[in-house]
Amino acid sequence: MNPIKNIKAIEILDSRGNPTVQTKITLKNGVSAKASVPSGASTGEHEAHELRDQDQERYNGLGVLKAVDNVNKIMAKKLKNQDVSKQKEIDKRLIELDNTKNKSKLGANAILSVSLACARAGAKVKGQPLYKYIRETYNFKKKKRFPIPMMNIFNGGKHADTNLDFQEFMIVPVLEKNIDDKIRVGAEIFHVLGQILREKGYDTDVGNEGGYAPDIDHTIDALDMIMTAIKRAGYEPGRDVFLATDVGASILYDQKKKEYIFKLDNSSLSSDQLIELYSTWLKKYPFISIEDGLDEDDFSGWQKMNHELGDKVMLVGDDLFVTNIKRLEKGIKEKLANAILIKPNQIGTLSETIDCINLAQKNKFKINVSHRSGETNDDFISDLAFACGADFIKAGAPSRGERLAKYNRLLEIYEQEK
Ligand code: PGA
Ligand code: ZN
Repeated sequence: MNPIKNIKAIEILDSRGNPTVQTKITLKNGVSAKASVPSGASTGEHEAHELRDQDQERYNGLGVLKAVDNVNKIMAKKLKNQDVSKQKEIDKRLIELDNTKNKSKLGANAILSVSLACARAGAKVKGQPLYKYIRETYNFKKKKRFPIPMMNIFNGGKHADTNLDFQEFMIVPVLEKNIDDKIRVGAEIFHVLGQILREKGYDTDVGNEGGYAPDIDHTIDALDMIMTAIKRAGYEPGRDVFLATDVGASILYDQKKKEYIFKLDNSSLSSDQLIELYSTWLKKYPFISIEDGLDEDDFSGWQKMNHELGDKVMLVGDDLFVTNIKRLEKGIKEKLANAILIKPNQIGTLSETIDCINLAQKNKFKINVSHRSGETNDDFISDLAFACGADFIKAGAPSRGERLAKYNRLLEIYEQEK
């Protein structure tokens, strides 16, 4: 029995300089642990509620003092003396305490900070690394396999001040090497891409997720430069390194016209035409994964896309599934996709995140554990990804401290486990 003595949240800032919640749990035996939560910019319509103060006098309304109060006054009281090792029970209590469909009362940000901090404290009292604790708590099989990094080296959409409509272009070093080599290869290509951009007179400042974000002339220019960078770094596209994109299509969708608007390429495409575009790209570029290729509620479009492209490429639901078991159940039944993005803050507790992973794995969906565009140095997702045997981890470019925190944690785990 490891009873909780005290739970204390504070308002801290994320990588965009916006407020977020950090929670510290202290146990009666003196052990303590902290967790902080990230925040999205291209947030899915169906995500759990991120509670913000809406007080325009502070941080443009983005303050999280109410969420902090909910931890300190409501959750702290409810969980006092609770055994921290009973993670599933703790999460159940938190869900009951909120008692809304989307955690709008206490805030998913507040709830998740407590849930994750409890897991860290639970691991600490057992003297285990976090990944091992998660693995044992949720009965995942022990695997030596590390998730393959998807590194977002070209930032667009809502994540950068660029004219690129596509939110993310990523490189995926799949080569038969260990995780340290995969991360190295990603970083090498990232630097070569910087060189190429400089040679062409482009800006090399980085966006929210650490990738380059220059204004370009056509979308495919970004793809061509990435292909050149892979080759110039000494790797073979389609063998050593693949491409991936997160289109972030919900933001590009005009509900009235039922069209996707790509300003850079001066084109408006129906679902069918967009699927056709992806199909053309698949013939020309080594894409391994297309995330949120269509709007989050364009179910018939997703079904068609999965039918036409699902055997050639991973079709990842992020805004489509929002780490929510109900949305995923629909996706499985209606064959909407073949992979899922996992973001704990889309649902609000560790246990619900794991439920979603379990359901996805049972149905042979590929798992991609992901950061958010607004991050802290918290590296929880790296342990989570390793513990559940995720196929991929998406943590941005190998640039910016809050992105590297995740890759560096994987390197630490590798050192312990190899
Ligand atoms: P977000 O972006 O954190 O801004 O939602 C990440 C993603 O869409 O995968
Ligand atoms: Zn996404």
